[in-house]
Amino acid sequence: MARGIIKNSWTRFVKIAIIWLICAVTFYCFFQMALRNSSSHLSDNSHQSTNSAGSSIANAEQRSILYAKMAKDLDENGAVFLKQGETSQSLSLSDLFTLKNETVEPVLRAANPPVRANVLHLNTQYSVPISEAVKNIFGPYFDKAIWFQNSSMYHFSLFHASHHIHPVPATETEIEAEAGAVKAVAEAICPLDIVLDRVVLTSTGVLLGCWQVVSGPDPVTIRAKLKAALPRAPQKQLYNEAILHTSFARILGPPKKLHEEEKKMSELQIFHDLVNRLNKHIVRLKATVSELWYVEEYEVLALALNGKMKIRKFKFGCSKS
Ligand SMILES: *[C@@H]1O[C@H](CO)[C@@H](O)[C@H](O)[C@H]1NC(C)=O
Ligand SMILES: *[C@@H]1O[C@H](CO)[C@@H](O)[C@H](O)[C@H]1NC(C)=O
Repeated sequence: MARGIIKNSWTRFVKIAIIWLICAVTFYCFFQMALRNSSSHLSDNSHQSTNSAGSSIANAEQRSILYAKMAKDLDENGAVFLKQGETSQSLSLSDLFTLKNETVEPVLRAANPPVRANVLHLNTQYSVPISEAVKNIFGPYFDKAIWFQNSSMYHFSLFHASHHIHPVPATETEIEAEAGAVKAVAEAICPLDIVLDRVVLTSTGVLLGCWQVVSGPDPVTIRAKLKAALPRAPQKQLYNEAILHTSFARILGPPKKLHEEEKKMSELQIFHDLVNRLNKHIVRLKATVSELWYVEEYEVLALALNGKMKIRKFKFGCSKS
C-alpha cells in the first residue's frame, strides 16, 4: 500500500519534471531566437549607412514617416484653402487661379530668371488611368472649383538647378552645360519600379500621390547624383531628399452637390471620404519610371499649370535585364 503511494508520487514527479524540462527547453530556444533577432536588427541599423540594402530600407522608412505626417496635415491645420477669400461663385481662389468665362484658369506669371527643374516623368500609360479616377471621384463634387494636373505632365520633382526662392541665373551656354550633365546622370541610372503608397490631401488643397520604390535607384541617390552634377544649384532645395510624390489636382473650393447623408458631415469628413475612395481605386498601383526631364519653366509653376516651358527629355540609359 505505502509502496503503491510512493510509486505513484514518483511517477507524478517524473511527469512534472519532464513537463518542466520541455517548458524550459522551449523557453530557452525562443529566448535565443529573440536574442539573435534583436542583435541582427542592431547590426542592420549600425550598417545602414554603408550597406545599400540597409539604406534603401532606411529611405523607405523615411518616406513612410513623411507620408504619414503629410496625411495628418489636413486634420491638424484644417482646410486652409477654403479660408481664402471666396468669390460670388464660392470659389476660394488662391492667387494661382482665376475664373474666366465660368472656367478656372491659372494665373501665369513670368518666372525671372526661369526656374530650372529636374523631374522624373510618369508615363501616360500610368497617369491617364490615375487622372480618370481622380476626375471621376472628385469632379462631381467640385464642378469648376478644382484644377486637374495635365496627365501628360505628371512628374516627381527631384532637384532644382534654380528656383524662385534662390534664383541662379544662367547663360544659354551654362544651361546647355547643365542639361548635358543631367543627361549623363540619366544615362547612368536604371529605371525605377515604384508603387503608389497612399493619396493625401494637404491643408493647402493639393491632392498628392505618395510613392514607394520597389526596385531601382532610390530618389535619395538620384538627388545626390544631380547635386554632384549641378554644383551651382541652390544649397537649400525645396523637397525632402527621400520624397517621391506627384500632384494630381488642386482643390479650390468647398464640396458641392452633396447627398442627404453627406450634408450632415463636416467638410473635413467629406474630404477624407473622397480621399479614401480614391485610395481604394488606385493605391498599390505599380509604375515604371524611365525618363528624367530637365525643364526650364518660363512661368511660375509652369509644369503644374500648363505654362510656358522648354523640356529636355532624357531616357534612363541602363536597361534592366
Ligand atoms: C465662353 O464659353 C462659352 C461656352 O463654353 C463659349 O461659347 C464662348 O465662346 C466663351 N466666350 C469667351 C469670350 O471665351
Ligand atoms: C497637356 O499637355 C500637353 C503636352 O504639353 C498639351 O499638348 C496639352 O494641350 C495640355 N492639355 C491642356 C488641357 O492644357
